[in-house]
Amino acid sequence: MGKLWGGRFQDETDIDAYEFNASISFDKRLIKEDIEGSIVHSGMLSKCGIISKEDGDSIREGLEGILKDLEDGKLEVSEEYEDVHSFVESVLTERIGDAGKRLHTGRSRNDQVALDMKLHIRNALLGIDERLFDLQKALFNIMKDNLDTFMPGFTHLQKAQPVTLAHHMGAYFEMFLRDRRRMRDIYMSMDSCPLGSGALAGTTYPLDRDYTARELSFSGGPTRNSMDGVSDRDYLIEFLSALSTIMMHLSRFSEEIIIWNSDEYRFVEIDDRYSTGSSIMPQKKNPDIAELVRGKTGRVYGALIALLTTMKGIPLAYDKDMQEDKEVSFDAIDTVSDSLKLFTGMISTMSFNTDIMKKSAENGFTNATDAADYLVKKGVPFRDAHTITGRLVLKCISEKRALKDLHLSEWKEESEVFEEDIYDAISLKSCVEKRVTSGAPGRASMEKNLEYYSKYLDKGVLR
Ligand code: ARG
Repeated sequence: MGKLWGGRFQDETDIDAYEFNASISFDKRLIKEDIEGSIVHSGMLSKCGIISKEDGDSIREGLEGILKDLEDGKLEVSEEYEDVHSFVESVLTERIGDAGKRLHTGRSRNDQVALDMKLHIRNALLGIDERLFDLQKALFNIMKDNLDTFMPGFTHLQKAQPVTLAHHMGAYFEMFLRDRRRMRDIYMSMDSCPLGSGALAGTTYPLDRDYTARELSFSGGPTRNSMDGVSDRDYLIEFLSALSTIMMHLSRFSEEIIIWNSDEYRFVEIDDRYSTGSSIMPQKKNPDIAELVRGKTGRVYGALIALLTTMKGIPLAYDKDMQEDKEVSFDAIDTVSDSLKLFTGMISTMSFNTDIMKKSAENGFTNATDAADYLVKKGVPFRDAHTITGRLVLKCISEKRALKDLHLSEWKEESEVFEEDIYDAISLKSCVEKRVTSGAPGRASMEKNLEYYSKYLDKGVLR
């Protein structure tokens, strides 16, 4: 029903083949973009004298009416049509008569769908940018309140050196900053309009492609090669790759929150609103949101691999394989958008057990490097300082003590260089504060970063 191509056929399409081929169940998501593109296309046709002004006006009014009825819930997409393009054209023709049949002049569904997808992805990209921005704001708030919240920094998930909660959150802020930069870069690299590429070889009508590109806000103008115009999905692959990277970041973060939320760590407590219980174990409060975000990462990677694989064997120009670009992309967009939203809600309501974090930083010899550095500053070569401190750590481990609990005489047994000021040198506060290099957790460097982030956030979102 509602096919755009019956003339050349003698037999009806096999019903299973029809359904296998149909895309309306998912490309109906493109309906606004499809109508927006058609309004601009028909406006251009009439401006260039390819259709009459009356037809152009009645097409525009008809399309605007369809859009309004969709928004008001007076019209619903019927899945009996092959695709969203057939649906719109059929409803239009039902409403305005023959003029509707002129809409597709100088256009193919190939350049039409290439345009619809670009418009849709451009919008989705701006939506993801907003979600990333909200997450950055939540991180910024945690950071500014926790410049002096000491916690252990880890390597190999073993306590390494003390850092602060602000510094740890700042690492994620940087990741999401790069994610947003990628959104901007992709936006710029996909900024050319495929409409007017026709089926693959342009058209014989004198279309004004600069006009349509401008009206649809593509600042790079029309695409330069019509075959590439209809068959380029690079921007979508770049977008899915950037979405995969966002999920990788969220998944790492989730993993940490799951660990921190465990009874062994108790660094954080996830709010009741973002955790769930067990049907059998009454005591349980599980970090399901973080686990789901971690778990959903796979399906976004899957979308990227699926599209890369779909595209790899396609001869120029358009082939129906490319219809497969939609479901995986839509799913990836929804998954990343929801994950960002839930993750932001979870971390902005989560409480941090700063005392436990601090105690944890005090244990586990996170100040051992500082003890060695103390000796270095007093002239001992670093390698010797490392060995001396290592021996002291070994002694503490066997006696179940911390470095700060050693008597000065015990320090001196390993090196005469140690004096009373060693205790200050290895205190948690000075271990962090002495880290003065830019990018380090020390207050001076973190305050500079916060100033930078605050200006960065003032710039707002891409949209
Ligand atoms: N549903 C198609 C797609 O998503 C639209 C383009 C159809 N073009 C064609 N020549 N059959 O790719």
